[in-house]
Amino acid sequence: MTSVLKHLLCTGLLLVLLLLPSLAQPLSSGEEEKLIKSYLSQMTLAEKVGMLHGNSKFTSTGVPRLNIPEWHLSDGPHGIREEIQRDSWNPAGWTDDASTCFPTATALAATWNPALAQLEGEALGEEARHRKKDVLLGPGVNILRTPLGGRGFEYLSEDPYLTSVMAVAWIKAVQSRDVAVSVKHFLANNQEHERNRVDVTMSERALREIYLPAFRAAVMEGGALTVMGAYNKFRGVWCCENPFLGRTLLRNEFGFQGVYLSDWGGVHTTVESALAGLDLEMGTNGAYNSYFFADPLLLAVTQGKVPESVVNEKVSNILRVMLRTKVIGPEVDKRFPGSFNTPEHQAAAYKVASESVVLLRNAGGLLPLNFSKLRSVAVIGRNATHKQAAGGQSSGIKALYEVTPLEAMQKKWGSRVRIDYVLGYDKPEPVVENGRRRPANDLVANQKLLQEAVETARKADAVIFVGGLDHDYDTEGSDKPHMELPYGQVEVIQEISKVNPNVVVVIVGGSPVDMNGIVHRVPALVWAWFNGMEAGNALADVLDGKVNPSGKLPFTLPSSLSQSPAHALGNYPGKNLKVHYEEDIFVGYRWFDTKQIQPLFPFGFGLSYTDFVIDQPSLNKKVYGMADRVQVQLTVRNTGKIAGAETVQLYVGDPQASVPRPLKELKAFAKVFLQPGESRKITLTVPVEHCAFFEEKSAKWVVEPGEFMLYVGNSSRNIVHAKSFNVK
Ligand code: BGC
Repeated sequence: MTSVLKHLLCTGLLLVLLLLPSLAQPLSSGEEEKLIKSYLSQMTLAEKVGMLHGNSKFTSTGVPRLNIPEWHLSDGPHGIREEIQRDSWNPAGWTDDASTCFPTATALAATWNPALAQLEGEALGEEARHRKKDVLLGPGVNILRTPLGGRGFEYLSEDPYLTSVMAVAWIKAVQSRDVAVSVKHFLANNQEHERNRVDVTMSERALREIYLPAFRAAVMEGGALTVMGAYNKFRGVWCCENPFLGRTLLRNEFGFQGVYLSDWGGVHTTVESALAGLDLEMGTNGAYNSYFFADPLLLAVTQGKVPESVVNEKVSNILRVMLRTKVIGPEVDKRFPGSFNTPEHQAAAYKVASESVVLLRNAGGLLPLNFSKLRSVAVIGRNATHKQAAGGQSSGIKALYEVTPLEAMQKKWGSRVRIDYVLGYDKPEPVVENGRRRPANDLVANQKLLQEAVETARKADAVIFVGGLDHDYDTEGSDKPHMELPYGQVEVIQEISKVNPNVVVVIVGGSPVDMNGIVHRVPALVWAWFNGMEAGNALADVLDGKVNPSGKLPFTLPSSLSQSPAHALGNYPGKNLKVHYEEDIFVGYRWFDTKQIQPLFPFGFGLSYTDFVIDQPSLNKKVYGMADRVQVQLTVRNTGKIAGAETVQLYVGDPQASVPRPLKELKAFAKVFLQPGESRKITLTVPVEHCAFFEEKSAKWVVEPGEFMLYVGNSSRNIVHAKSFNVK
């Protein structure tokens, strides 16, 4: 007897299934609901409540007699997290759980290539299946509101459209492997400082235009099967017990039929959370049966404070996700089998990393390195050897391997050029004062290391300085204390540049740093992210020209922290545990553009080793109706000597609007790969309704008739064509 038949007999579901037309197709929603009802009708209240809370750090209880297994959740999101013990955060000590490690989210977004989000998602889904996971906790789609946000590296961008496009591709890909995603952190987890207590408020317009679109797209376009509630409060109510989030937005507006689960330890109440639409409670401290959604929920139901129908609704949501991912039901035998650490997955990790690297400056064409002219290269900096994959807290990955920049350079270049490595700077030891340890001043250079770096740089034909951040800065749980390059790196770079004119600075990091002190002193500047297990290979290949850089910044790099909106207005990190987003819709480049502030490097910026020309665009119409789509046709040409990729960006402005609007907003983009001399005609499409703003008075999206501006460029500031169109 097949396991499917056994399962059906034992659950008494055979009758239901005999009535279903065919099992070769995915279940129709009617079939799905019949099955769910049938499961529910056989469950006791205690069994139902058992499914609604954690029974270990990363599982929730099943109903073995109905063949409903334990549900296995896992971090993510850029690899499958190391196994930890059931009841503690300590490693379980497995020897076969080191996984493929992808670049972190800002790096993925910097590829501006949804096909790579798909490639990554498929690989992650396959690895999750191999490790018997049912839910992969990601993607993180919160907006980068401040350069200091500790989890900025785990989120995609300051722009809701770029975030949405990348997240949707990733979500569909993971779920195509029968693994549910969990879109996080719903809502407004834009700072780590006081994340468990801070109360975030913002206008309805900022919510609709900036902070909500990616969650909406994740559910409505990506079909995300679970959503994770954030730790913070939103408009006075914790996210996991906030009916506006759990009911109004998720269920009523987005039509979400999946599971709203809590962040680990994010639940504070039983009745409020249950009624607000939260389905699953994870990570609370204390005994599992004392969780808010365990014995206290049973009691609340028996006392009539929570109707049993609410419990049924939650269990139905979990069963629905289980059916759709083939954890239970007639298709369990057809579930994706998964695979782990395959050469294809490693190649995908390399591909994402190599397309993410952003070339910010290349004066005099120092890059790509020309080994026929170089006899020696000095590699300087802690990040040339420092492994990053395991850091950052919950998103840290026990990687199967991690190629550091120095390892890759030695392996790839060692036979062609002499490589001398010195540390250059280091993380200082804490200072002991009156018997107490306090963190050392992290902005002061270690003079001994600095001198050694200068001497090494003096003797080399070129210097590659690999610095930036580490996960003491870009991390869950706390924000960065400042936007400076830590450990005295600025001084080290400045001194090196005095003795060697050929310095390439490589910044490893996932969020903006202040580069004023270095940018004009060195000819070449490269942003290389936390780039996963293939970080070193990708970087070396970009530096030597094997890969032509094609990454573009997914966030603005401000000149100083005070330039950026939340800080300019003094509303970070808030007062008395409250933060109001006063900058409103003017986040990221929307602020810099509209206020005419010159950042150090703008959103969408990134150079190439070749040159591109974007020809005059043409529009399919002059005047558009509300239901029309603006189609912008243009040709991109590679006018240089090597193959490369340009990301054409289309922004729309609404100069006649009756409300303040950003100068321009990203509405479409395309990454175009071209051989030297090649040109390609592309069409970028913007539905007119996407040009709307959210009108608070009517609580509606409004497109005001009149003239709109269309800007085409290869960054938010390098606009090469501007055209107008009319909407009537
Ligand atoms: C994080 C989540 C993570 C969870 C489980 C929480 O601290 O905020 O993003 O998925 O832990 O590790």
